[in-house]
This record gives sequence, structure tokens and C-alpha cells, in this order.
Amino acid sequence: MLQKEQRSCFEIVSKFGEARVGKLHTNHGDYETPVFMPVGTNANVKLTDTMRLKEIGAGIILGNSYHLAVRPGLDVIRLHGGLHQFMGWKGGILTDSGGFQVFSLRKLRDIGDDGVLITSPVDGSKMLLTPELSMEIQSTLNSDIVMVLDHCPGPEDSYTESMVSAKRTYNWAMRCLKHGVNEHQLLFAIAQGGVYEDLRKLSAEQLSQLPFDGFAIGGLSLGEPFEKTLYLTQITVSALPSENPRYFMGGGSPALIIQLVEMGVDMFDSVFPTRLARHGAALTWKGRLNIKSARFKRDLQPIEENCDCFVCQNYSKSYLHHLFDRKEVLGGILLTYHNLHFMMKFMNKIRNSIEDGTFKTLKREVLDVYGKGKK
Ligand code: GUN
Ligand code: ZN
Repeated sequence: MLQKEQRSCFEIVSKFGEARVGKLHTNHGDYETPVFMPVGTNANVKLTDTMRLKEIGAGIILGNSYHLAVRPGLDVIRLHGGLHQFMGWKGGILTDSGGFQVFSLRKLRDIGDDGVLITSPVDGSKMLLTPELSMEIQSTLNSDIVMVLDHCPGPEDSYTESMVSAKRTYNWAMRCLKHGVNEHQLLFAIAQGGVYEDLRKLSAEQLSQLPFDGFAIGGLSLGEPFEKTLYLTQITVSALPSENPRYFMGGGSPALIIQLVEMGVDMFDSVFPTRLARHGAALTWKGRLNIKSARFKRDLQPIEENCDCFVCQNYSKSYLHHLFDRKEVLGGILLTYHNLHFMMKFMNKIRNSIEDGTFKTLKREVLDVYGKGKK
């Protein structure tokens, strides 16, 4: 019997120690890893449009299935033919399953083995988010990368609680796999295990036995000490297959990224650059800069002298300071552009340094500026 030839979604192109440059094949293009994915929860990356995203060189962006299922609702997305068409984005989209997003609605959710019972903060209606429903939602969104529904414990949760959530995450992952995704969608599992070394290892090992396209490291960067984030990621990564993409969920500071890339992590997402921008902070190769500071009122220089982004080519710190002073939305738009451009350049530098063997030097430079453990 002829078997349909399955093309792997990921190739490793080059390695330096455990750090690797790879190519991730999706239904909306091939992307080089390590990759940074801007967050677009409500079908938009805040203060950015898809024209700018493309110009900056963003490849894959994030969407959130729970948020979109609530508003505008799946019927509306279906009308458009999927999330890509709805938001006018031709690049890659990874959708999170919803479990983590409802995790923040502490009082409004009730987690059991079947799924998460969520009370809508909008109208009080109830929804039982099961692994199957999450797959259905993400199938309607028709994203390129689908995440399984997981149960993410908090860093304060006990060993027993973390064990229960890791077991549940495994069962839910199997149910997602069984339910299946659309033909061109990739399905990623999420390793949990809280802040406990043996549980992290067990969760990653068990999921690795299943035929997922990629594996995520979940439940970290949630307030535990930075050194612990690094250590627990290391434990998790060592237990994951090396031939699949590895994705650290919800972490994106330069110091974190460079140290996790060194361990062999390939994908990152964070609201870090876009949120900082809205608060008036710019990312530069000399560190963070707060544009609201009075010292920039008469500074005619761009945010970064040798930055080739549109903002640095056309505007001074004085102008940006003025926009923030007057609370003009354009200030946030321009800083978002520069910060996302910085992240894309940063990832490009990381990939180049892995390929030409200068990764260690780059790592030292980044940690000198962004501080080990500090953002
Ligand atoms: N985003 C950040 N951390 C997590 C996690 O543990 N699970 C999911 N689903 N999304 C996340
Ligand atoms: Zn710039």
C-alpha cells in the first residue's frame, strides 16, 4: 500500500553546541528559527497593522482561540474563511488553545478532567472548553500551528497539584491528537510539571512518545525566579526530541531568549516589545530607554543611531517624547514599530551567530546590556 509521504515540518540547518538554526515549514510560508512571534490576541498585534508587520519582517504571529471564540465569535471568522482572511495577514499564525488565557480568570473557571468550565466575563454565560472544542475552534480559525489544550499550574502550586495538572495535560494532549487538526495544520504539545524537576522531565518524556509536530515548554516565566526558569527549561528541553521544533511559551526578553536559544529552544512569543512600547520604553543595543524622560525633550537624535528602521530614519527622540507627553497614540505606534524591528534584528543576529560560530560573543554582549536575570 502506498503511504502518503509525510514531509517533516522542521529541518535543522546549522548548530552551535545545542543552539540551532532551523527551518519551520507552515501552510503560510517557511520560517527560519530561532524565531520571535509577536502576540496578536484580538486578531491584531497591538498598535500595528499587517502592512507594518510585513515590513518589519515578522513571520509568524500569535492568536488566541478563546478570545476570538468569544468576540467576534466563530460564526464571524467562518464568514471570512479563517483568521488569516479576517485580519488580512498572509504570514504564519500560531493559535494558543485557550487554557492558559482562562487560567488568569481565576474566579471564573473550574477545571476538571473533562475540560475547563468558563464563566464568560462578558455576559456570565458558561462554556465547557474541552480539548475537542479547542481543536474545533482552532480548526475554524484555520491557523498554521495549533496548540493542545493544557492545564498550566502556577509556580505556587503544590507538588500534588502540579502532578495532577501534568497528568491531565497528557490526557488532554492525547484527546487533541485523536480529534485531529485540518490537513495543513501542525499540532504542538505542551509540557507542564510546574516548578518540580521530576514532573517536568516526566511530562516532557511522556509527550515525546506521541507524534506531535512540535513541543512547547509551558507553565514557566510566571513569577518564579529567573534562574529557576532557566533550569527547569533545561530539564524540559533535555527530555524533548531534538528533531522537532521547541517552543518556549510566553517569554521574550533578550536575556531570556539568548540563554534559552543556547539550550536548543527554537520559538518564542511575548507581549514584551509591544507592551513596553505602549508604556514609552524603547529597546536598543545599549539597553532600555524611557522616551518619556525629560532628558529627551530636546534630543534631536533617533532612538538608535544606526537603526535602519523607518522610525529611526525619520523621527527624533524629541518628537517621540512630545508624542508621549501629549498622549498621542502615534507615539505608541512608532515605538511598537521600532521595538518589533529590534526583536527581528535580534533574532537575525542570533541565527547568524549560530551559523558563523560567534554565538558566545553575542550572548556576552546581550547579557552585558540586558543583564543576566533582568529584563
Ligand atoms: N502561554 C504562556 N504559558 C503558557 C502555557 O503554559 N500554556 C499555554 N497554553 N499558553 C501559555
Ligand atoms: Zn529603529
